Amino acid sequence: MKYSSQMVAKPYFIFALILFAGQILFGLLMGMQYIDGDVGFPYIPFNVARMVHTNLLIVWLLFGFMGASYYLVPEEAETELYSPKLAMITFWVFAVAGVATILGYLLVPYAELAKLTHNEILPTMGREFLEQPTITKIGIVLVCLSYVFNIAMTILKGRKTVINMVLITGLIGLSVFFLFSFYNPENLVLDKFFWWFVIHLWVEGVWELIMGALLAFVLIKVTGVDREHIEKWLYVIIAMALISGLIGMGHHFFFIGPPPYWLWMGSIFSALEPVPFFMMVLFAYKMVNERRRQHANKVAVTWAKGTAVMAFLGAGVWGFLHTLAPVNYYTHGSQLTAAHGHLAFFGAYAMVVMCVISYAMPIMRGRPEGNSIKAQKVELVGFWLMCIGMIGITLALTAAGAWQVALQRLPESGEALNFMSTQDELMSFYWIRLISGVVFSLGLVAYFASFFVDKKQTQQVAIG
Ligand code: HEM
Ligand code: HEM
Ligand SMILES: [Fe+2]
Repeated sequence: MKYSSQMVAKPYFIFALILFAGQILFGLLMGMQYIDGDVGFPYIPFNVARMVHTNLLIVWLLFGFMGASYYLVPEEAETELYSPKLAMITFWVFAVAGVATILGYLLVPYAELAKLTHNEILPTMGREFLEQPTITKIGIVLVCLSYVFNIAMTILKGRKTVINMVLITGLIGLSVFFLFSFYNPENLVLDKFFWWFVIHLWVEGVWELIMGALLAFVLIKVTGVDREHIEKWLYVIIAMALISGLIGMGHHFFFIGPPPYWLWMGSIFSALEPVPFFMMVLFAYKMVNERRRQHANKVAVTWAKGTAVMAFLGAGVWGFLHTLAPVNYYTHGSQLTAAHGHLAFFGAYAMVVMCVISYAMPIMRGRPEGNSIKAQKVELVGFWLMCIGMIGITLALTAAGAWQVALQRLPESGEALNFMSTQDELMSFYWIRLISGVVFSLGLVAYFASFFVDKKQTQQVAIG
């Protein structure tokens, strides 16, 4: 580690991983509720568990992005972070607001929470992923402002590398697009438009820039490949991401009321969206093959290749699966959507955050050459169990989705099964999803354990 201010990343990473564990607990609970609807009722009904699961996901990823930026930007800019103090204040504000909001979901009925937080003044609650009370949303905006300001000031006073510029562009996009969550039109079609402006422009737009920048940073560090080489790839990847993603958003406008030309625009442009994800796979493998050094932190290299491959599968392949209008007509909102949502979020964003953590955390703990071989082995077990568990979840939900379409959507009306009867037919797939979820959780336990494997080494370094 070159700059002491990079250390502010550590609490961000630790807190992100704690929230990740919380997310998975609620995932498991829902996995059980899908099989027996009474599990946890009336204390944690499905709708609450779902909200907690998805909100924890978004919040831990934001903590991860923030930690990653605070670590990476000073090193790239070759200067201390503009204000480590501000970064720590931001950490505590975000942590307290995040925990309070999750407790709000769990302890108070949602309608009550809306009343308590005076949603009527500026109604923004009640939309998937954006369920946060308005006051929390305002808090998120302030946290983002402070974060982007801190990062921007650091870049302004230091070296302006392509990685830093791509990252800050992504961060500004993330913050600006979140502002659409404050606009909540009465008209349901308009409402859906603006909802997608947040969610889709994030995951299929600016977050791809963030992912590209984080991946490029780790690849430079672990392969020693020329910066110029990596930067050229990054330019093409982000250009393709933006060209395809911005209009590709039309794949969410097929059947919600907008003009029919979106059927074509959405299908054609979103069909191009797998391209940048595929390029990230080529990029990661090419850089590793042409590496100039063999970094002792091998498991960080595994994460870098893994995130590229899993993102391509989840976003590229599973996204493409249902992105053409004639297909989406049948699959919209089915278990296939959940299959894609899981593999894409995990492969692209959860894994890229864990990739940076895998590289940066050992350095922050006084092990510049990575963890001991034993700790890396345990981490690798975690990596594989999580990947295999997630692929199991994805395949189970894909089969469930296909069967759901066959029973409920394809037959002429009258012969089609209704929604709930169809769900009963899918029970064996939900069992496989739950078992895969348990495998995933074991992977997470192994991953956490890897942080505690060689405590002795830290002590030695500290003494030495
Ligand atoms: C890492 C990037 C991506 C992430 C994290 C992601 C995540 C998601 C999530 C969570 C949903 C469900 C939204 C809801 O609740 O309704 C969704 C829907 C969808 N995604 Fe993605 N996605 C990504 C990339 C892509 C790509 C590249 C494509 C196309 C090639 C795609 C195509 C779709 C389509 C068509 C839907 C709508 C499904 C429906 O009609 O039910 N996604 N995505
Ligand atoms: C133990 C592992 C997990 C289990 C059992 C699980 C289970 C579930 C369930 C049952 C839902 C609700 C689906 C519905 O509304 O019908 C859900 C939603 C969701 N989960 Fe998970 N989950 C797990 C891990 C994860 C991970 C690791 C991620 C991402 C990194 C993730 C991301 C999501 C997303 C984005 C949604 C919303 C999907 C959509 O709108 O289509 N989950 N999960
Ligand atoms: Fe999309």
